[in-house]
This record gives sequence, structure tokens and C-alpha cells, in this order.
Amino acid sequence: MARLSIEHLRKVYGEFTAVDDCSIDIADGEFLVLLGPSGCGKTTTLRMVAGFIQPTAGKITIGERDVTTLPPWKRNCGLVFQSYALFPHMTVAENVAFGLEMRKIAPADRAPRVTEALRLVRLTGLDERYPRQLSGGQQQRVALARALAIEPDVLLLDEPLSNLDAKLRQEVRVEIRDLQRKLGLTTIMVTHDQEEALTMADRLVVMEKGMVRQIGTQRELYEKPADRFVAGFIGRSAFLDGAMAEAGRFRSGGGLDISCKATASGPATLALRPERLAIGADAEACANRFPARVEHVSYLGALLDIDVRLTEQDRILLQVPNRPGAAEPKPGDMITIGWAEDAGLVYPREAKA
Ligand SMILES: Nc1ncnc2c1ncn2[C@@H]1O[C@H](COP(=O)(O)OP(=O)(O)OP(=O)(O)O)[C@@H](O)[C@H]1O
Ligand SMILES: [Mg+2]
Repeated sequence: MARLSIEHLRKVYGEFTAVDDCSIDIADGEFLVLLGPSGCGKTTTLRMVAGFIQPTAGKITIGERDVTTLPPWKRNCGLVFQSYALFPHMTVAENVAFGLEMRKIAPADRAPRVTEALRLVRLTGLDERYPRQLSGGQQQRVALARALAIEPDVLLLDEPLSNLDAKLRQEVRVEIRDLQRKLGLTTIMVTHDQEEALTMADRLVVMEKGMVRQIGTQRELYEKPADRFVAGFIGRSAFLDGAMAEAGRFRSGGGLDISCKATASGPATLALRPERLAIGADAEACANRFPARVEHVSYLGALLDIDVRLTEQDRILLQVPNRPGAAEPKPGDMITIGWAEDAGLVYPREAKA
């Protein structure tokens, strides 16, 4: 168990920067989730921590040890890869013992550690099976047992649940989290599944194009997204493009005057969370109120997604609870939508990549 610190980590492949100036501090026993679009540098970051990729620059510290130039087997990181990567010709026990063998643990000392690791992941008794004789969830747990058998200081999980169906995913998710808590293991998990990230993490790191965009708790990321990317990536936001007319007043591309709390100036984007938007009578008390035409309604069971148009350029996606018996808006209906002055978050307009 140990604190993990990543400082100004960078990885360059020729002209391409895969990870750029990445700094993350992970507390002892913390469960940190790395989240971001495909290709943003999550696996590269994890593999630099594990020691399989040598960073171009930066420093990695585990506990008090600077491990930046140490080989993987001297870092004591337990690793679970994106695919389970079990050896098909080895039994469960041999798979789990693999890391111990690599670390030159005497054969007599391996057996009890394998037994203990299998007990932790609830696979006692399956030692002699081969991977092909196991279900997907069991294989995933063998991979986890293999990572745990070495008694790691740090656990690194790269999309460990990606091969499982939705139900199994939820089960293994809970198991991993319980086990991590019980062992107090400092953990980094990579996922691109938002729900998984939000339910499992103590804190989250949002990456994009090799850079850390924001680090924080679920609430911090959702309620105070650092930039437009995070506002769009974590949860949902409706965006209106326009410009700040003066402090506290945003003018949308379609000419709507919107009061907000921002003092920025110049081209900007206003982001609105769906639950901050009110419709019909609920919008009466809002500082910002506009007529809108319903364009499209999607039925999502507990919720209705309603796409509305305020002006030719200004569209907003609303999400309202589906109340049985209540009149459901239909395409073409005119409704009033409103939001409070502090609901709109204003970000400088970003150049389109
Ligand atoms: N050996 C390499 N040489 C050149 N470019 C590489 C190499 N390895 C990775 N990259 C590039 O670095 C970027 C980051 O890759 P990485 O595997 O870290 O992404 P990721 O965030 O894990 O994506 P995913 O969610 O798809 O797994 C990608 O654009 C990838 O093409
Ligand atoms: Mg990856």
C-alpha cells in the first residue's frame, strides 16, 4: 500500500505526443479512475506507471521510491490488462502463480499465496481448471487474482470489465471495489464507461488528447466542469454558442439575451445541465425564460428527452421526468423553458480541432 505520485509525465512517439505534462497525486488506498475518449493516453499513462513504457520525461514515485527508471518487476504493481490475457495452456493456479515465478518467489511459498488470491476473488477450488473451462467473469477474476498474488503496492486496471456483459460487469465491479477497500489498495482504473467511473471512483481524472483536463470528485466534475470539454464529457450539457455582451449578460448566436453569473468577455459557450432547465409553469420564476418549439421527443422510460429550438441557431436538449398521466409534449408544440441566472456556465469558445 502506498501513495502514488505522477509528475509532469510525458510520452512522445516521433512527432506525436501521446501523454503531455500529466501530473496526478493518488492517496494511499485511493481508487482513482482515468476517463477519456479513445486514444487520449489512458493506457500509455498506466503502462508508464507499471514500467512497460519508458516516459520521455517526468517522474513516478510509489511510496517514497522514485520508480521512474525501474523495470516492471521491481515496482510491485499488480496489473490487469484490457483483455484478460490469461495463458490458455496454463491452469488457473499456474496463471495466478505467474507473477510470483517472475519475482523468483520459491515454489513452496507460491502455493499459499495462490490459494489466498483465489479465495479473495471467490474462485477457491478452481485451481486446476484451464481458462477455456471458465466463464468470462471467472476469467476476469483469475486475472485479478494474478495481480493480487504479488501483494502489490499499487493496482492498475485497464478496462478490466470490458469483455463482460452488462450484468456480470456490475457484479464484478462491486467485487473489485469491495476487495480494493478491504485490502486498502491504491488503485488506478481506466475505463471509458461513465457510469462505471462514477460509481467506482473516489476521484476521477478526465483526459483528452494526452492532457489532464480535470481531476476531482464526481460532484466537482459535474457541478464545476473546468472547461467545455469536461462539461460535455461528464454527464450531459446543452450548449449555446454566442458571446458575452457585458459582465453578467450572454448573447446567443440566435440573439437571445441571457443573464448569467459570468464576467468573461468575447466569444463564449453557455453550458446548461438538463436538470437545471424548467418547462411550462415551473419556468415562471426563472430569470431566463424563452418560448421554444418542440422538435423531437425520445421516450427513455423514466425520462423523456425533448429537443427544443429557441431560435434558428439555438437548440437545447431537455430531460424531464416521465410522469404517467401528464400531457407529453409533441413535436411542433410551443412551450416555455427557463433557467436561473446561475444555471448557465460560461466557457471561452474553443477553436474547433
Ligand atoms: N507505440 C506507439 N507508437 C505511436 N503511437 C502510439 C503508440 N502507442 C500508442 N500510441 C498512440 O498514443 C495515443 C494514446 O494511446 P493509448 O493507448 O494510451 O490510448 P487510450 O486512451 O488507452 O485509448 P483507448 O480508450 O482506445 O484504449 C493514441 O493516439 C495511440 O495511437
Ligand atoms: Mg487503452
